[in-house]
Parts: sequence; C-alpha cells; structure tokens
Amino acid sequence: MQNQPLKIVTLLGSLRKGSYNAIVAQSLPQLAPANTVISALPSIRDIPLYDSDLQTEAGFPAAVEAIAEQIRQADGVIIVTPEYNYSVPGGLKNVIDWLSRLPNQPLAGKPVAIQTSSMGPIGGARCQYHLRQILVFLDAMVMNKPEFMGGVIQNKVDEQKGTLTDQGTLDFLKGQLAAFSDFIQRVR
Ligand SMILES: Cc1cc2nc3c(=O)[nH]c(=O)nc-3n(C[C@H](O)[C@H](O)[C@H](O)COP(=O)(O)O)c2cc1C
Repeated sequence: MQNQPLKIVTLLGSLRKGSYNAIVAQSLPQLAPANTVISALPSIRDIPLYDSDLQTEAGFPAAVEAIAEQIRQADGVIIVTPEYNYSVPGGLKNVIDWLSRLPNQPLAGKPVAIQTSSMGPIGGARCQYHLRQILVFLDAMVMNKPEFMGGVIQNKVDEQKGTLTDQGTLDFLKGQLAAFSDFIQRVR
C-alpha cells in the first residue's frame, strides 16, 4: 500500500481547442513528484445541461458516471480552469452540478487542488474563490496553499507546440504538485 503510486486526475474547465488551461494540465505529468501519476479525466464537452427531469427519466449521463468513477478511484483531483466573467465557467459548474447529485458523491472528502489560468493579470483569482465556495457544499478537501493563478498565460506558452514555456510557472507548478502530494498523504 505504502509503495502504491498516488493517483491524481485533472478536470479541465475549458472546451477550447488550443486552451491555455489544457496546456497547463498537459504539463503536469512531467512535473509530478516521484511515485505520483497524473492523468486527465474525460472531457466535459458533451455533458448535457443539468436537468433533474433528465436525471429522473434517463439517469446520469455516461460521461458524468465515467468522470465520477475515475474521481472515486483517484487519491486527488486537480481542477484546471479559466475564469469566465469573474467566476466559474458554465461547463465546469454544470459537471459539478451533475456530480453533486450522484449517490456516493465522488468529491466528498476528496483532496482537491485548483489551478486557474487566464489572459488577465490576476490569473482567474475570482473564479478560484467561487470554485472554493462551491466545493465547500460538496464537502471536498480543498488544499489552501500554494494557490496557482497563471496570469497573462498567453505569454507563458508556446501555442504552436502546445507547451508551457515560462520557467517560473513550471517551477511554481512543480512546487504546488509536491505540496498537493503531501496534502493528500496528510488528509487521507
Ligand atoms: C465568456 C468568457 C469570459 C471571460 N471572462 C474572463 C474573466 O473574467 N477574467 C479573465 O481573466 N479572463 C476572462 N476571459 C478570457 C480568458 O482568460 C481567455 O479566453 C482564456 O484563453 C480562457 O482559457 P482557455 O484558453 O483555457 O480556454 C473570458 C473569456 C470568455 C470566453
């Protein structure tokens, strides 16, 4: 048990091809500490808008069930998302709304880290605090610090190659992942 790698999954809040947040999420596996495996959850793209009639008539969408099961199997979740209009993008809120209605709600007691990146200078800070508020209701164990807010992210990536290039950002993310791995081991 002691030597089992920590399993961390990433939930991406952007649907955009060429998303800066997708670039950040894709950089994480190489920055992970030893004995930690980071992989991406399925896309939230095709999840219908939450509707309790739909839930009653058709059950939970397969994509929601798949995301939920992978979260249950994981030791921790990193939410990687842009800020939309000073808050949480609708698509991300939508999947959280679906997840929140599941029996054996997968985020309850789950260690979570948040990474926001945006084109604005404060890197999605306002989204981050709204997301934390939502995760209180889901009873997730959100790591307080270090907080990652990737400001002016368009200047920190190579869009052609789809890679994060800013060394300070890479170093910060590496530190946050090490802290998250410690956090998971402390709280679980
Ligand atoms: C609907 C919408 C709302 C936005 N609101 C904000 C905002 O509140 N703060 C901010 O810094 N950037 C905002 N932006 C700009 C995003 O930071 C930018 O589109 C960024 O590329 C989104 O992340 P992505 O590349 O991962 O999709 C907004 C963009 C859209 C499309």
